[in-house]
Order: sequence, then structure tokens, then C-alpha cells
Amino acid sequence: MGAAITGWGSALPDKVLTNGYFEARLDTTDQWITERTGIRERHIGGTTRALAIEAGRAALSRAGLEGGDIDLVIVATTTPDQTIPAASASVHQALKCRGGALDVNAACAGFTYSLVLANSMIAAGVQRALVIGSDTLSRFTNFKDRATAILFGDGAGAVVVEAGAADDLILAYDLGADGTAAPLLFAEIGGYIEMDGREIFRRAVRAEVDSITKVFAAAGCRAEDIALFVPHQANLRIIEAVNARVGLPMERTVVVLDRIGNTSAGSIPYGLADAVEAGRVEDGDLVLLSGFGAGMTWASVIIRWGRRGVT
Ligand code: UT7
Repeated sequence: MGAAITGWGSALPDKVLTNGYFEARLDTTDQWITERTGIRERHIGGTTRALAIEAGRAALSRAGLEGGDIDLVIVATTTPDQTIPAASASVHQALKCRGGALDVNAACAGFTYSLVLANSMIAAGVQRALVIGSDTLSRFTNFKDRATAILFGDGAGAVVVEAGAADDLILAYDLGADGTAAPLLFAEIGGYIEMDGREIFRRAVRAEVDSITKVFAAAGCRAEDIALFVPHQANLRIIEAVNARVGLPMERTVVVLDRIGNTSAGSIPYGLADAVEAGRVEDGDLVLLSGFGAGMTWASVIIRWGRRGVT
């Protein structure tokens, strides 16, 4: 039995911090932030749970479903509001879902990991999964540290994955992890995010290029066959460097980081929902998702868009 994405949605907190906010408070400039990252503003505030519920509710509505139709909730997050219990349990309760609920902590690659997981659970008998990426990194950001404060924002995105499509949702996937890179990006319990930005940048480009090359080979496709690329939104220069190396054009690439900054697990589903709402994907199109993050972890997946027989 196959699967398809039948709903999508996203959520951002109301409060916006522009680059000017940091220019007024730190030794930085709008010009530096824009040129070195591509980010112009980010949304701050709210809870991981509330953003996840809002994005999840929007995805359910798009799919024409109610919470009771869902029999698996996965929330990808590195920033749950509490250490115990998982964020997914309260999302499950708020949306009145059935079946199981679990969190996935794979940092900025978490949503892509979770999509692969949901697809596998559908093969194992789940009918409809709600897959959400939600993070509130601002709670772990040192607003006095210009190297990290300018990068992160809060936000969430969600999709509904349903069984019953003519063929499989996922043509190929690649999941990776490298714990030797753990000291490059981390937050101690109760502490702020610390990062070696330059080294993360270097490794991110290498990991994404390798991972995308692998999924192209596994799916038997080339860059020309990809109608839409949704990369993790960390830095415009990372996206451009990856695209140049794998041959993907920027016109078919989703860039939302100028508006939302780096929202970790929220970034790929947010970007996907934004592109679908803008009419950038048609039934049958191949869509590539690829992300990397703390761990390091990385994940790429090629999916075929459209309901394709889901009734
Ligand atoms: O989701 C995954 C999470 N993280 C990432 O993806 C981050 C990946 N890395 C990056 O995006 C980039 O490395 C940064 C945006 C973090 C930094 O950009 P960069 O071009 O790699 O700069 P750099 O770290 O090499 O620093 C260049 C200079 C340094 O000054 P000196 O040593 O040349 O005098 C920094 O101190 O820029 C300075 N700098 C800043 N200047 C103004 C660092 N941050 C800032 C700032 N404003 N906000």
C-alpha cells in the first residue's frame, strides 16, 4: 500500500525581530546579517506545543480531516517545553487524535527523519499520521551572543500522511548521523546554544551534498527531475553552495529564511507548506527535502507529490 501527503500547514508566533533589533543592541549590522546569512527577520515567542498544535490543526483542515482520523502523531523537536513528557502527547490530546504519539529529536533534520518514520509506520498498518516539526530555539538562545542570536527563530510546520495512495510516497531516502560533530553545536541542560558556525557550515554543505547524491542514485533521478527542493533554512549561502554542487537551480528551491530565520525542525515543513500554498508543486512532481543539524544529523528524501488515489 502506498501513501501520500494530503494536508499541510504552519504556524509562527506574532512577535517579529528584524535585523535592526540586533543592530541596535549588539556589535552587528543589518548588512552583515543579510549578506552572511540571508536572514532579514525572525518570529519569536510561543511554546513548541502551541505552535505544533496550530500547524497540526491547519494541516488537518487542509486534508479535510479531524484529529480522530489520525492514528499516529509524530512531533520532531529539539526544544520541547518540558523534559518530561514528550510534546507529542499534549498535541495528541489537544487535537483529539487516536493511536500513538512520539517525539523525534534529530535537530534540524527531525522533520525529514519523521516523514520517513511515518511512511514506514503506514507500511506497518497506520492509516493516517500527523507529522509536525516544531521548535522554539529562542528559549535556548543567548541574545547577547551575536554569533548565534541573529540566526534562530521559532516556528512550526506539519503534514498529514495518509495510506491508500496508488504508490509509495517516498522514492528514496538517506538518513545520517555523526556524533564526532556533537561539540560543534550543542546546549547543555539549562544552558544556551553554543556553535562553531564556520565548521558547521563546512560540514553541512558536505553532508547535504553527499546525502542528496545518494538519494538521486537510489531513486534513479537527476537534479533536472526535481520540481521543488525544500532545504533546511539555516543560511542562504549554505543553500547556494549545496545547489551549485548538485546542480539544483535556485528558481526551483524554497527560501523562506529571510522571513523566519532558522526554525530547526520547523523549517522544512514550513517551507514545504509555503511552496504548496503558492502553487509551486503539481500532482506527480518530485520534491526533494534535505536537512542537517546538531548531532550532526542529516536526512534527505525524494517524494512524489499528489493524493494519487487517496479518497
Ligand atoms: O541548523 C544548523 C545550525 N547552524 C548553522 O547552520 C550555522 C552554520 N554557519 C553559519 O551560518 C555561518 O558560519 C555564520 C552565519 C554563523 C557565520 O558566518 P561566517 O561567514 O561563517 O562568519 P565567521 O564565523 O567566519 O566570522 C567572520 C567574522 C568574524 O570576525 P573576524 O574574526 O573575521 O574579525 C566574526 O567574529 O564575522 C564576525 N561575526 C559577526 N560580525 C557581525 C560573527 N557574527 C557576527 C555578527 N555580526 N552577527
